[in-house]
Amino acid sequence: MRSSLHPRPARRPRPRSRTRSRLVALFTGVAAVGVLLAAGTTARAADAPLRDLAEARGKVIGTAVTGSKLTGTYGDLAGGQFNSLTPGNAMKWETVEPSRGSYDWGEADRIVAFAQAHDQQVRGHTLVWHSQNPGWLTDGSWTADQLSTLLQDHITTEVTRYKGELAAWDVVNEPFNEDGTYRTSLWYQGLGSDYIARALTWAHAADPDAKLYINDYNVEGVNAKSTALYDLVKSLKERGVPIDGVGLQAHLILGLVPSTLQQNIERFAALGVDVAVTELDIRMQLPSTDAKLAQQAADYRAVMNACVAVSRCAGVTVWGFTDSDSWIPDVFDGYGAATPYDANYVPKPAYGAIATALGGTSTPPTGDCTAAYSVANEWNTGFTGQVTISCSGAALSSWKVSWDYGAGQRITQAWNATCAQSGTTVTCSNASYNGTVPSGGSVTFGFNGTWSGSNPVPAVTLG
Ligand code: G3I
Repeated sequence: MRSSLHPRPARRPRPRSRTRSRLVALFTGVAAVGVLLAAGTTARAADAPLRDLAEARGKVIGTAVTGSKLTGTYGDLAGGQFNSLTPGNAMKWETVEPSRGSYDWGEADRIVAFAQAHDQQVRGHTLVWHSQNPGWLTDGSWTADQLSTLLQDHITTEVTRYKGELAAWDVVNEPFNEDGTYRTSLWYQGLGSDYIARALTWAHAADPDAKLYINDYNVEGVNAKSTALYDLVKSLKERGVPIDGVGLQAHLILGLVPSTLQQNIERFAALGVDVAVTELDIRMQLPSTDAKLAQQAADYRAVMNACVAVSRCAGVTVWGFTDSDSWIPDVFDGYGAATPYDANYVPKPAYGAIATALGGTSTPPTGDCTAAYSVANEWNTGFTGQVTISCSGAALSSWKVSWDYGAGQRITQAWNATCAQSGTTVTCSNASYNGTVPSGGSVTFGFNGTWSGSNPVPAVTLG
């Protein structure tokens, strides 16, 4: 079954627990000391995943992914939070045909299979580009006819392979210079600007249902480059060339979201094409600070709002969802922190901004973090206890745990946390060095206390 750029209304069969505030108490009488355990999840109201929020609005929220990383926390978040995937490199010509006539579809197939298993769309990226082409192609010397045949064969082979499985293709990538002239690429030099119309026509022949896009950067606002793109799309439409959409990459710099973004989206929509934000990231000079992260959140919100405001804006894809999988630090010296999750998979303020722009709340999902209280050792008037905070499919950047002692117990000493007791209520928060609990990880702190009569396990609240 095909997916369209606007998500299907059908519910996904995702076996994910959404229980956020359940309290589980496990009592195990173990050995003479009688180890007691209680586990509680955070009582904070957690938000729905971004993909649920986006689907409720008929929008795509996507991410670029690296196929080899789609396991563990990376896989949980890529599959759980997004309804669309774009292979970051896996479908580029140099990846799929490294030697002439010898194909490697491994990573691309893996991403498509993962997307299908998670009921996600795939955005193919990219068929015609001046970059990341195989050496045998760029080093060769070709006549115009040979170049045209090579391009046709490449497009036909790749689009046919995924026929009926991809929602959209970035057919042509980055055809323009900043001043709106055509980039003097291999393709432009060999075939003139008509390579664009030919590529679209061949892609359409191979998969008539895929939405076909031209994709570029620095075309988010109204400027010379985006106007050249506008004029091209207008003329392609007039000529009857199959063009369905325009991709605004949106590799942006902190504080510099173009003020004409929505106006620009609207003018393309008025031509009768869809618009997608295809590669959003917002880079900042490192180190990041709270103020920069707040500005970044405002910038993400501005981009999301512009897309949400225009019905022909299909959605937004981030170019990597975690700072551990972003191209920015490799290319822009001293810059980074450009994505909605930090390198430990902790959601940043930008995550909350995306969620709120899609109609959710800014509370990141923390429901899969739990706190478990146990009595490790007990003697006539004293005991040693510990609390372990564990996260799965979510993460924390700081934590606070509290409980009520109902039988007169008192904490006398704690380690790996700062604890205070007021009346019967104990509150413990992270030390300076152990606030981060990555998904799949845990943090434990311990304490000594006094008791008399009985030492029941309290209900623990995280958050
Ligand atoms: O695969 C090799 C690996 O074998 C080698 O060990 C390693 C050493 O550096 O390099 C690996 O290749 C890298 C490749 O990404 C895969 O990770 C290249 O060096 C690196 O240059 C390449 O960067 C990609 C970049 O396109 C190239 O321009 C980024 O990952 C990718 O995110 C980026 O994506 C582009 C979009 O396609 C188009 N718009 C701009 C965007 C950002 O540049």
